[in-house]
Amino acid sequence: MLATSRRKNAAVGLTGFLHRESDIYYQWLEGPEPEVLKAFDRIRSDDRHGDVEVLDRQQTETRSFPTWSMGYGNSKTTSLFDWAADHDAPLHPPRVSDVLAFMTECAARQE
Ligand SMILES: Cc1cc2nc3c(=O)[nH]c(=O)nc-3n(C[C@H](O)[C@H](O)[C@H](O)COP(=O)(O)O)c2cc1C
Repeated sequence: MLATSRRKNAAVGLTGFLHRESDIYYQWLEGPEPEVLKAFDRIRSDDRHGDVEVLDRQQTETRSFPTWSMGYGNSKTTSLFDWAADHDAPLHPPRVSDVLAFMTECAARQE
């Protein structure tokens, strides 16, 4: 799944970060809007997902993960639940700024 995602994303200029925490995936996907929408359609129609929810959409000038066709972390590498507890951050729903800060830290640690 990660290899397929990376290959497809790299081919169309998408980057981002994916974090798995127990059975929940948090994903940041960035790039040209039409490609983001197409990838999102693929992800949404993938029946390995029970419930896909968009937490935020934004237009940006710069990417947050320019060198990652899809960075990846899980709760064993760094737990989002622990991070949220340490930062007094809500998780239901999570704040987008918190998820981005968390993923940026994870990506920096893997560089
Ligand atoms: C958690 C998760 C994240 C995924 N992320 C991406 C992604 O970033 N880009 C992508 O092209 N496919 C991603 N996929 C795979 C798609 O759901 C889909 O299986 C894949 O794009 C192949 O689609 P196709 O058979 O319609 O070509 C992800 C799948 C899962 C389960």
